[in-house]
Parts: sequence; C-alpha cells; structure tokens
Amino acid sequence: MQRTPIAEALNAQQAQARITVCGWVRTRRDSKGFSFLEINDGSCLMNIQVIIDETVPTYGIIKDVSTGASVQVTGELVESPGKGQKWEVRCTELTLFGTADPETFPLQKKRHSDEFLRTIAHLRPRTNKYGAAFRIRSEAAFAVHSFFRDRGFFHVHTPILTGSDCEGAGEMFRVTTLPVQGISKPENGNWFEDDFFGRESNLTVSGQLEAEMLTMGMGRVYTFGPTFRAENSNTPRHAAEFWMIEPEMAFADIQDDMDLGEDMTKYVVRHVMEHCAPDLNLFASFVDKELMGRLETLVREPFARITYTEAVDILLASGKDWEFPVSWGCDLQTEHERYLAEEHFGKPVIVRDYPKQIKAFYMRLNDDDKTVAAMDVLVPRIGELIGGSQREERLDVLEARIREIGQNVDDYWWYLDARRFGTVPHAGFGMGFERLLMLLTGITNIRDVIPFPRTPRNIDF
Ligand code: 4AD
Ligand code: MG
Repeated sequence: MQRTPIAEALNAQQAQARITVCGWVRTRRDSKGFSFLEINDGSCLMNIQVIIDETVPTYGIIKDVSTGASVQVTGELVESPGKGQKWEVRCTELTLFGTADPETFPLQKKRHSDEFLRTIAHLRPRTNKYGAAFRIRSEAAFAVHSFFRDRGFFHVHTPILTGSDCEGAGEMFRVTTLPVQGISKPENGNWFEDDFFGRESNLTVSGQLEAEMLTMGMGRVYTFGPTFRAENSNTPRHAAEFWMIEPEMAFADIQDDMDLGEDMTKYVVRHVMEHCAPDLNLFASFVDKELMGRLETLVREPFARITYTEAVDILLASGKDWEFPVSWGCDLQTEHERYLAEEHFGKPVIVRDYPKQIKAFYMRLNDDDKTVAAMDVLVPRIGELIGGSQREERLDVLEARIREIGQNVDDYWWYLDARRFGTVPHAGFGMGFERLLMLLTGITNIRDVIPFPRTPRNIDF
C-alpha cells in the first residue's frame, strides 16, 4: 500500500496534488455538507487535518468514521488556513478500514487516568501520551547503541536462560519443563535430573557475568537486553521484566566506570532532547512542569560524586525523620537516594565505596577491607538509575568472597577462570532502561514506560 507517514506529510516543503495518508481518527466535526477529521498514524504526535465534503463518492460512510476508526484518505495536500498546522488534506477518496463503535470503544476524546489506561494496555499506544512515551523509548534505545558504537564498544548478546544467579539475591524466575504435579525427589537428590537442562535454570537477572567474559577478549562490550527479577515488591520503580544496558570495560577502574555512566546518561538525554522535542514537550506540559529544567541541569552540570560514608553523614545531618533509619552499614533506600539527588544536590549524584556486606560478591574489595569499589548513580525523582562496580580481578580475594557469602566456589569455575588466566582490572555497570525513560519523561510509574508491563499478579496481554 502506498501511503505517506503523517510526520512526513506535515513536514512537506510544498503543496502536493495527490497524497495518501492512513491512520486512526481522533476526532470528527461535521458541518453542513462537509466534515473535518483529525487523523493520527503514530509517526508523530501531531494529527493531520482532513476536509471531506459531499462530492467525495464515499461521503455517505462518514457517519461511521468515528473516534478510533481506521481510514485511508487520498487527496490534495494544501496549505491550511487554520491555526496550529501548516498543511491539511482536501480529501477526494475515502476508505474506511474498520469502525470503532462509540458505545464500546474505550478511548473517547477525553482525559483518561493512567490506572484506567493500564487496564487497556493493548489500546493505549493509540493515545498521545503513550505514543509519545514509546517513540521516546525507541529513540533512546537508538541513542544507547550509537553512544557505545561511537566509543568502540561491541554489542554482545548474553544468554537469557542461565544456570547462575549474578546478583546472588535469589530473586529469580525458575525455568522448567517438568510437570506441575507428581515430582518426587530422585534418589540422587537432584530435583532437576529430569528437567530440560538437568540442573536448576532461571531467567537471567543480569548479563554481567557473561559480559565480563566477553570483555576479557574483546576489550569493551555492552549488552542491552531483557532481565527478570522475581522481587515481590510492588513499587512504582520495579518491574519483573525490564531492559538493562550493561557495558563492561577491560583495563578500567571505578573512575572510568563513573565517567562512562555520567557520559552515557548525558548523551542519551541530550540526544532525546534534540530528536524528540514535540514528544518531550507533551510531558513537560502535561506530566511534569519541571521536566525540562531538570534535564537541562543534568546535561549541563557535572554529577556530584561522594562516598557512601559521606552520603551517610549527609543523611544523618539532614534532620529528616526517615522511614528506614540511617547508620553506617545500612543499605540506602529510595527515600535516602532521592533526598541526596533531589534535595541535597539538586542533580544526579554518584555514590561510591559501599560497605561490602550490602553489595554483590563480584565487586572489588577496597584496601580498607570494609568497602567495595561499587558506584550507584542516583537521580532526582527516581533514585537509583545505575548500579555498577570495578570487578574483583584477584583470584584469591574473589574465592574468599564467594565462600564468605556461603556459595560454592566450584559453581563459579568458569567465572574464576577469567581470573586464573590473564586477569585484568575491569569495570562495568547496569542501567535500568525504564528508569532512564522515567527520567526522560517525568512519568512516575514504571508501568507506564513499558508497553506491556510485568509486575506481581499482572501478566495480562
Ligand atoms: O543494581 P543492579 O541490581 O545491578 C546489576 O544487576 C549489575 N549486575 C549490573 C552490572 O554491573 N552489569 O541493577 C542495575 C540497574 C539498577 O540500577 C536499576 O536501574 C535497574 O537495573 N533495576 C531495575 N529496573 C526496573 N525494575 C527492577 N526490578 C530493577 N532492578 C534493577
Ligand atoms: Mg543496585
């Protein structure tokens, strides 16, 4: 089918004698002998206006061309006398593909709540807000790839089915082909003997361990893929399935890691500001009035950088009444992270050198023997955007850490091989892509930046 995307039609340099556009009707207004249609095809936020009068052979169907109906319009692209648009289409041929009964089509021309729209996630891409959110999602993903490609990182694909728990937090979804009922413990005690892989397997929580192996041969790599966490926490910032960007660099330390995290965040934000202005503007006007100011500060100013110990001092000195009390050794909660970024610094802040007890086994032990070379990037409104570290490259130290957390060293034989043979200092991080999109749009619930979100007790669509 030949058609011109509406984004292209609205950008035309001159009038056109014949053009075909397709889309979904947002509104129809009738006058005597003619009607105006506003049509949107998702290629951009703007609708194109169509004027159709009774000389069009199929004008008789216009009463069925209601909000949500899908149409094809052929006609002349002419300068619009109306305000707010440069071009409009004088229709000569109208085809109605599908009607949308006004009695039952849920997206009538009025504002709907986010909660309601989540219950019709299959239809919400047809609204301005979600169309804009998912176009920004697309452009931001492109920016991520171009950032890394420009800097000589290779895009690698790490497995989604794994036999290891990278974060050691036990928040994994088990993958199995065993029947639901009737499994009894086999003689040898291995529950998974008859399972597909013959051992316990899960959906990955992070591609890091495998990305480390690739970086140890290819220098600089990144993964950008789906990750899964069975955290039973119903928060606006956690999803059971989310996309993570994980770069890994050989011959790099925690300093390089922080620089990369800051550069990448700024690059993607700047790219989206340059390429998605109309969509961003929707969020700045209707979702979060302070959005643009915050994004401009983010790209302009250096991120603050402090140690965990300094962060604890700031939190203790704040005089705030925390829900989760603060003392050295405690994990930082969202309320603490947001206070630091939002109120204390008023911009993103990178916190480094966390106590080893609250961080994963693979993080490099600092000389004080108490802290590890971890770094989290915390941003206003969201809290943790990035979590990363310099990795423990010393075989003996890493083995001791694995034992310390009660794990079996043999299970990590291949991970340890990277330290046995030609080990190097290396570092990397994980950025939650949806958290980045929340930052970019001002959307406060992660369920609204994912087309089909997966959260506890929610797997419709
Ligand atoms: O801090 P996390 O758990 O770090 C890792 O998984 C490392 N293995 C990454 C690495 O170094 N390669 O997760 C990284 C980021 C968090 O900062 C957060 O932005 C996001 O992933 N994240 C989630 N996003 C949405 N829903 C969840 N349940 C998330 N859990 C983590
Ligand atoms: Mg983390």
